[in-house]
Amino acid sequence: MKKNLILPLCAALAAGAALAADPADPLVVACVGDSITYGHGASARGKTSYPAQLQALLGDGWQVLNFGHNARTALDEGKEWNGQGGMGYRKSPEFEKAMRSKPDVVLFMLGTNDSKPVNWDADGGAGVKRDYAKLVDDFLEREPAPVVVVGVSPFVKKDSFSIREKIVGGELAPWQRAFAAERSLPLVDAYEATKAAAETSYIGDGVHPNDAGYGVIAAAFAAKLRELEPALRKSHAAAWPATIALPEPKRAAMPLGEALAKRATHREFSPEPLSGQELSDLLWAANGYNRPEERKRTAPTAINRQEVDLYVLCADGAFLYDAAQNALVRVSKDDLRGLTGRPGPNNFALAAPVALVYVVDFERQGMQSRPADALKYAHVDCGFVGQNVYLHCAAAGLNTVFLGSLQPDKLAEALGLPDTRKPVFAQTVGKPAPAE
Ligand SMILES: Cc1cc2nc3c(=O)[nH]c(=O)nc-3n(C[C@H](O)[C@H](O)[C@H](O)COP(=O)(O)O)c2cc1C
Repeated sequence: MKKNLILPLCAALAAGAALAADPADPLVVACVGDSITYGHGASARGKTSYPAQLQALLGDGWQVLNFGHNARTALDEGKEWNGQGGMGYRKSPEFEKAMRSKPDVVLFMLGTNDSKPVNWDADGGAGVKRDYAKLVDDFLEREPAPVVVVGVSPFVKKDSFSIREKIVGGELAPWQRAFAAERSLPLVDAYEATKAAAETSYIGDGVHPNDAGYGVIAAAFAAKLRELEPALRKSHAAAWPATIALPEPKRAAMPLGEALAKRATHREFSPEPLSGQELSDLLWAANGYNRPEERKRTAPTAINRQEVDLYVLCADGAFLYDAAQNALVRVSKDDLRGLTGRPGPNNFALAAPVALVYVVDFERQGMQSRPADALKYAHVDCGFVGQNVYLHCAAAGLNTVFLGSLQPDKLAEALGLPDTRKPVFAQTVGKPAPAE
């Protein structure tokens, strides 16, 4: 399980969590399943698959992601009707994508393809049930853990592709209901919902719903999600707080002369996270307000334009340092550290818990009519912050390396920066690697 910096910090420090729907910070719904989730037979999959209709029903404040894959089974060693293997959902790229999507909720609807004789009959479904439970557990063990909603496999109007209603309705659906009850997982009975609407809700193969049938499934999930919404928003705000208050920064005690004597670039890091206190001390030293009454900082800037913004990238996301509030403001849930340093598996920026990114706001700097000066001053001003970080790290027993290598365009996009703000330099920070 990944070690993270911010989540432990969050629990203690999360500032007033906003519980209202926020289009910029939606609840993420991962729809996991087979071709019925994918939307086979939908007239316009992007609009009429069940996940697409669910998105329309839920609206802003939700992000519904479709991780359906045709013919996939809960059984890890699942096969197609003709014996072709490799059909286990776990083996699909969608499984990895769903796991990485940081979902608040997983709508789990697998099992229809498991009713095929090749998957079910050898052991009467025992393997299917075992692997179904294992997949659910894999999602529940994510950090932070999503809510997994068990979607009972839809009704089979007509046996096709060797999918059998006698197994789906007679054995699988009752087991799925019992499984959800035993594990106290929320349940959406897509079987009952689709059976009730079967007359008008299927395409010719009798297995896949038509647009109306997908609408029935979407409505059933939407009702359950609305019911769960208050609890989901609460846990989302706790897991991904918009703002994290930092502890009061402390000044490093080492005399300046000693810190200067120790200042050096180091490229080996321990993956151990920095504590909230260590982070607060570092950021204050880097570019905090040392004369708050004058709104002036530890690093100088040309004409006091204070155009350098400090972003903090770590395993749990990316944050803007708000020096006035002594807080971190979340801008992404993604780990963007790999966009600093030289790309590749040996990128040491990934070994350290923190990557700082120096972003220059050229609008705030206000020198657009003198582009050469604008760039010169921007670079110098970043350099002062970088040297503050070097000296603080020397005094605080941390390792650091200033980086001209970074991927500015990708970073700008991932951080949601307008054209007027540019990532210019980065700086990796972490504890020294333990001695061999
Ligand atoms: C503007 C600038 C860009 C740098 N870019 C990189 C970099 O991309 N990768 C790296 O490993 N080190 C980088 N460094 C670190 C230098 O290699 C390092 O400061 C230099 O070797 C001197 O070592 P010292 O800092 O221990 O005195 C950069 C340093 C500066 C000042």
